[in-house]
Amino acid sequence: MTETTGTQTRTRKVAVLGTGIIGAPVARNLRKNFAVSVWNRTHAKAEALAASGGIEVADTPAAAVAGADVIVTVLKDGPAVLEAVEAAAPALAKGAVWVQLSTVGVEAIGELAGFAERHGLVFYDAPVQGTRQPAENGQLVIIASGPTDRREDARQVFDAIGSRTVWIGEESGAASRLKLALNSLVFALTHGTAESLAIARGLGIDPALVVDVVTGGPLDSKYFQLKAAAILAGDYSTSFSVSNSVKDARLVVDAAEEAGVKVDGTAAGLRRFQRALDEGHGDKDMAASYLAG
Ligand SMILES: NC(=O)c1ccc[n+]([C@@H]2O[C@H](COP(=O)([O-])OP(=O)(O)OC[C@H]3O[C@@H](n4cnc5c(N)ncnc54)[C@H](OP(=O)(O)O)[C@@H]3O)[C@@H](O)[C@H]2O)c1
Repeated sequence: MTETTGTQTRTRKVAVLGTGIIGAPVARNLRKNFAVSVWNRTHAKAEALAASGGIEVADTPAAAVAGADVIVTVLKDGPAVLEAVEAAAPALAKGAVWVQLSTVGVEAIGELAGFAERHGLVFYDAPVQGTRQPAENGQLVIIASGPTDRREDARQVFDAIGSRTVWIGEESGAASRLKLALNSLVFALTHGTAESLAIARGLGIDPALVVDVVTGGPLDSKYFQLKAAAILAGDYSTSFSVSNSVKDARLVVDAAEEAGVKVDGTAAGLRRFQRALDEGHGDKDMAASYLAG
């Protein structure tokens, strides 16, 4: 995106803090429309992006956000995001737009919105639905809440990284709350698939028969097929890690508890993910729920 001031035209700049599974393809998709700078705690991961061209890799969050019109955060959790933006604070431009894509939960989103207010940033709470492949294809679904007056700036980012944006109001925090509800569904589907296959195996039945029976019927879904195929192939290449699943399941359980909602399924699922993590499967895909002993 370019903007013209007087006789000068410049490409607008986006800084992406975090180049993990979602952050890296987000940065790559943004470079079509923006000048992009990135920062990542582990520098080597960000360097891989520079090699693909058109992305400037910064050594610090402050260097990444210097001169940025839009800041995008895609880090693990609330504390990591807060630490990064605090480090970036001296270089943040007042009036810049901050698009916060990480899943941080109810409490942290309030802290981040407070930081934005203190530093004169226009804050969009914008967690995403979709995983590695949709992120790479620019087909994330963005759940967004935030002020109406700068939505055009946020929209330019969302259009580059996603296929759909669901606006759910102006109150920051609303999008993060909806994201928790959605994650509880993702976890139920993942554990349901993993446990069904594990039960079949444990009862001496070929787990592939579960898939055979479900295929084409009302229980079938693209998600079921993907996770079941990964489990049957023993391929746990990560789209969403067990470690991040523990983090997110805990966010759901804590928020539900605070709201007085009993969540037996998500709480049990959290224990299962935690077991998988403790058994050394933290970096594997969440389908490794199947491996939790
Ligand atoms: N993957 C998905 O399917 C998916 C879907 C929807 C939402 N999300 C959310 O999107 C966010 C990113 O997910 P992801 O899958 O891209 O995760 P990821 O691949 O594990 O990447 C996590 C990122 O956070 C950084 N990080 C972790 N702890 C940090 C700390 N203490 N200080 C600074 N940086 C830190 C990592 O840096 P290093 O490289 O140095 O470790 C990396 O850049 C998470 O909030 C996740 O819940 C993910």
